[in-house]
Amino acid sequence: MNRSVLNKKINKENIHALKRDRQHLTSFLHKQSDSAIIYLLEKLGRLESEFSSEPLVDLLKHSNETIRSLAIKNLAKVNAISLLGVFAASAKNDTSTEVRREAVSAIGRLRNEKAISILIDLVSDQDPKVVMQAIRGLLVFPTNIEAKKELVKLKNHPNELIKEIISKEVDNVSCVSVSSEHHDKFPLYLKNTIVHSDVMNVFKHIPDEAVHLTFTSPPYYNARDYSIYQSYEEYLRFLEGVFLEVHRITKEGRFFVLNTSPIIIPRISRAHASKRYAIPYDIHPYLIKMGWEFIDDIVWVKPEASAKNRNAGFLQHRKPLGYKPNAISEMVMVYRKKTGKLIDWNIRQYGSDKTKESRVLGKYETTNVWYISPAFNRFHKAVFPIELCERVIKYYSFVNDLVFDPFAGIGTLGKAAIDLNRNYFLTEQEAQYVSHMKEDFSKRSSLLRLDRVSPRFVNLADFVMLCRKENP
Ligand SMILES: C[S@@+](CC[C@H](N)C(=O)[O-])C[C@H]1O[C@@H](n2cnc3c(N)ncnc32)[C@H](O)[C@@H]1O
Repeated sequence: MNRSVLNKKINKENIHALKRDRQHLTSFLHKQSDSAIIYLLEKLGRLESEFSSEPLVDLLKHSNETIRSLAIKNLAKVNAISLLGVFAASAKNDTSTEVRREAVSAIGRLRNEKAISILIDLVSDQDPKVVMQAIRGLLVFPTNIEAKKELVKLKNHPNELIKEIISKEVDNVSCVSVSSEHHDKFPLYLKNTIVHSDVMNVFKHIPDEAVHLTFTSPPYYNARDYSIYQSYEEYLRFLEGVFLEVHRITKEGRFFVLNTSPIIIPRISRAHASKRYAIPYDIHPYLIKMGWEFIDDIVWVKPEASAKNRNAGFLQHRKPLGYKPNAISEMVMVYRKKTGKLIDWNIRQYGSDKTKESRVLGKYETTNVWYISPAFNRFHKAVFPIELCERVIKYYSFVNDLVFDPFAGIGTLGKAAIDLNRNYFLTEQEAQYVSHMKEDFSKRSSLLRLDRVSPRFVNLADFVMLCRKENP
């Protein structure tokens, strides 16, 4: 039966009458189809303490798990300690995880000390969802010694979410921030500074928690002429070193957005196969291990005409296994520096004016598939389209924040930062790209008459001097 028919059949007045008359409710629940019962249970609304629970308790024997789960949800509204035994039986014996979780939630909602021993029993359950719900119930009694003792034991639970909740709630552990009171500030010598150097030499002169957002596209593994790694292993180790430092210099709870894609090293002759490296997937475990929390995977999709055609062979022979799709996507992986604090905490570090000024107004991308044409540049073979940088900056930083690109190339991130009233800090090791940035950035700043964003180009020695001047 569809919902509009049900809506007519079970209207507000019927529901009101059913709630007041136990006999009527019992016979309704016996006669109706599953969908009608579910509809009623979803619409039951508030239940006063004089509501007669028996018809709903009977439903806990129903074969449909949605009905059992909704019955418990409604019984929890009655808030009667007399139902504790009913909830405990469902929490222990029901065959459905969802019904058991709902039952534990109902026990917790009673907020009654009589429930503590049952909740303690449930924290040793095999199902992590049930355990988490039981933990929630026990946290209501912060001064109860037994409850606390059981919660502490869960520090070594095999489930990572349970461990996280316990360390946050019981040990009160969240990654301790060195500078959370200056969350919107950053060292001034980094402001709109471009360092011509290997980024690994620059990191030594950047303090912990200095930048708000990093967006970067690392050098490709041997796919372009600036790549010089002996092996894939060495390449991954290099990136691991860079991203560990990015983690250190990122402020608590702030974002790191990484653009990579699998690459192909072409075959050396017809007698050999080409080799494909799944860079985003290979880097991901390193990032998680070093303390980045995975937030989102955005797929950047380019027009097919811009991709290298790999279809010529298959188009002719059409033989299975020889299929080679044209690669028109790249990954834009979003990570957050792990912390016990919610994103709301980060937002609250800014005043209301700054928050208002930073709002993402107008049309914005609602999905994780971003259609953006690639950019071509005569000086650099692999540049970001500015639109990609603009989206990342707008969605993941506030006005006047410091955004960082360790592999700056010709500085597309910096240009987008200027346009969006953010500050930038860039490093690039190739002299030709730094010279190009020098020309381009000066033009851009004077064109926009933005003295406040005049770029500061330095080599490593000058950068060290700047750092010492600000931190004597
Ligand atoms: C994929 S490109 C980035 C292009 C940039 N997103 C843009 O829009 O111009 C990677 C850049 O990293 C630079 N690079 C590679 N290794 C580096 C290192 N150790 N330190 C600093 N820059 C490096 C390369 O010279 C190259 O310009």
